[in-house]
Order: sequence, then structure tokens, then C-alpha cells
Amino acid sequence: MSQTVQGVIAPAKGAPVELVDIVVPEPGPGEAVVKVDACGVCHTDLHYREGGIGNEFPYLLGHEAAGVVESVGGGVDGVEPGDLVILNWRAVCGQCRACSRGRPWYCFDTFNAQQKMTLDDGTELAPALGIGAFAAKTLVHAGQCTKVDPAVPATAAGLLGCGVMAGLGAAINTGGVERGDTVAVIGCGGVGAAAVAGAHLAGARRIIAVDIDARKLEKARELGATDTVDATSQDVVEVVKELTEGFGADVVIDAVGRPETWQQAFYARDLAGTVVLVGVPTPQMTVELPLLDVFGRGGALKSSWYGDCLPSRDFPMLVDLYLQGRLPLDAFVTETIQIGDVEAAFDKMHAGDVLRSVVVL
Ligand SMILES: NC(=O)c1ccc[n+]([C@@H]2O[C@H](COP(=O)([O-])OP(=O)(O)OC[C@H]3O[C@@H](n4cnc5c(N)ncnc54)[C@H](O)[C@@H]3O)[C@@H](O)[C@H]2O)c1
Ligand SMILES: [Zn+2]
Ligand SMILES: [Zn+2]
Repeated sequence: MSQTVQGVIAPAKGAPVELVDIVVPEPGPGEAVVKVDACGVCHTDLHYREGGIGNEFPYLLGHEAAGVVESVGGGVDGVEPGDLVILNWRAVCGQCRACSRGRPWYCFDTFNAQQKMTLDDGTELAPALGIGAFAAKTLVHAGQCTKVDPAVPATAAGLLGCGVMAGLGAAINTGGVERGDTVAVIGCGGVGAAAVAGAHLAGARRIIAVDIDARKLEKARELGATDTVDATSQDVVEVVKELTEGFGADVVIDAVGRPETWQQAFYARDLAGTVVLVGVPTPQMTVELPLLDVFGRGGALKSSWYGDCLPSRDFPMLVDLYLQGRLPLDAFVTETIQIGDVEAAFDKMHAGDVLRSVVVL
């Protein structure tokens, strides 16, 4: 039997979000219905609302979530009702050209639920990143459910479903930060702050946080930054070099995603170092560089999709580190809010007042 629950939709491009009744079908083969316990408000939800990602309105927003499996369809053996799961937006297929070469974190054919959730009148909803978790319950592909230790609070666990995983993974997976490395992170919002925490966890000896907002720099220090750079008054490249014996950092992570921040990352990096782009640029943005600098500085220029995470490998591991007190996920939760407060949370995000607002259900 299908169920009717409340959910937050973006009805049309640029329009405020609305709390409405949505119909969640019984899970079909390979699908699961999850009772959502917590869902973080991510920049990408705002991008959907503004029409920056697609034009398939109405969207069912929310994609950074944890909850409990309520029911599963036929052929599902990885999770069962009662499991605490983090929802992921990259359920790997196991068969595409990336998966078959043993690189499933690049999977090019990830799974989502086949059936659609709808409005009361039958209008089909497009769930954000194939999840749609600003809702009491949501329908997903069972592969989007990653089981974790039920001792973790859902507010902390859900963060691993998007922004915090993207930042941690940019440092640990894509950047390959190791014990003893020097690291700079440009932009310390939710994603960049998580990259700072990731560099700390990996044993970086120097972690330089860069932002234009003093509140973000203070938070970055709490999460392990050894030095901070105020990009409104300081020359980012010069200061990063000064702090690294004149050489530049081994790994520089751009968690803003603008041409000027990416160029700072490029030149604030030591010879043979690594640049990781995790902030998402817009289609209009371009960079121009002397090709000789690209050659002469060597190293690697990488982009990080979802922190190059493999949910089945990374989520349970990071939850275990949280439970040991080694990964301060609670520090990312600035506030918990009700499901009707998503629009207000977008305003706070826009003003830079929060790392994460988390809807609790
Ligand atoms: N690659 C992925 O898989 C992935 C996943 C989630 C989010 N993202 C992207 O990561 C980016 C950051 O997301 P977020 O949630 O942290 O956003 P956010 O708005 O919370 O953080 C951005 C931070 O950058 C700072 N900033 C802005 N301009 C700056 C500049 N010129 N120099 C230094 N700092 C500057 C802001 O003060 C803010 O603290 C976004 O582009 C988002 O879309 C990427
Ligand atoms: Zn695949
Ligand atoms: Zn997100």
C-alpha cells in the first residue's frame, strides 16, 4: 500500500519551497522505503530550487539524510527493516566500465528507485539527487541505503550522505593526504571545514584554512586547522608559502569553485603537489594559465565527485571513527530545525550563518 506523508518540494524555478502531502509507493523490486530521521540542508538543494540543476519541477528536496528502513521490495538482501542507514546518491552498479575495472567510486551508471513518488493529484516528483529526504518517508533504490552502527545519532550520520563526505573525501580519498603532509583548504563552509577535519584525521602536520568570513576560520581551527588566512586582507598564495617554508602546500583543496580560488590553489601548491577541486563552478567560468606552469609545476590537478567515496566502504568506517571520538561530526550541526523551516535555513546558509541546519523528523 502506498502512504501519504509530508514532504518539502520546490514547486517551480525560483519559487519558495512548500510543505505538501506526497505519496510514497510500496517498494518494488530492488527498492526500499526509509523512515527519515534527519536530513541536512545542503547548497545543492538551493541550486535545485533556483533551477540551477535541471528543469524537472516539482523537485522533492533533501538528500543528506539518515533514517531507518521501513520496508523493502523483492530481491533486496543488503538491508532489512529496522536497519539504521545513511542514504547515498551513488548506488554503484557493479557492471559499468568503472565498476568492472575495480573503480566503483567513479561508477557511471548509479541506481535510483524505478517508481516515482507523487503529489496527491498524481504529479510525479523528481527527488533531489535521486533521494528526496525532506520527507517523513522516502522511496529509494536499496543500494542507496548504507547500513551503519545504530549507536550513531541520525543528525550526525546524515551529514556523511553529502557535504561532509564530499569534504572529508576531497582530503582523504581524492587528495590522498597522508601523515606529515601540509594542506591548505580554500573556503571553509560545510565542505571545506570537513576537508580540514579530514586532513586532521589523516595526520597532516600543517593545515591552513582560508576564508573570507572570520566565523568560518574560527570553526576551522576547532576542527584542526593550525593556521588561518583571511582572504579579504591577505595574499593567499604568499601566506600559504610563508607557512610552508616558502614552498607551498602538498595538497591544496578548493572548496569554493571559482576561477580565482582555483588559481590560488594552483600557485599555493608545492612542486609536484596536488590540487583538488571540490567546489562546483558554474558553466560560465573559465581559467587561463601559462601551459609551461602546468608542466613545470608538475603534480596532479584533480576534481572530487562526492569525495570519491564508496559508501559501503566509507560510511561505516567514518561512523566508527565518530563513535571513537575521532571525527567530530556534531560540530557541523549548527542547528536542528523542523521540516517547515527549510526556506528559512536557505536564508541562513546564504548569509553564511550556518555550517549545517539539520531537519529532524
Ligand atoms: N564535489 C562534490 O561532490 C560536492 C558535494 C557537495 C557540495 N559541493 C560544492 O562545494 C562547495 C562548497 O559547499 P558548502 O556547502 O561548503 O558551501 P558554503 O557556502 O557553506 O561554503 C563556501 C565557503 O567559501 C567561502 N568563500 C567564498 N568565496 C571565497 C573566496 N573568494 N575565498 C575564500 N573563501 C571564500 C565562504 O565564506 C564560505 O565559508 C559548493 O560549490 C557546493 O556546491 C561539491
Ligand atoms: Zn558502475
Ligand atoms: Zn548535498
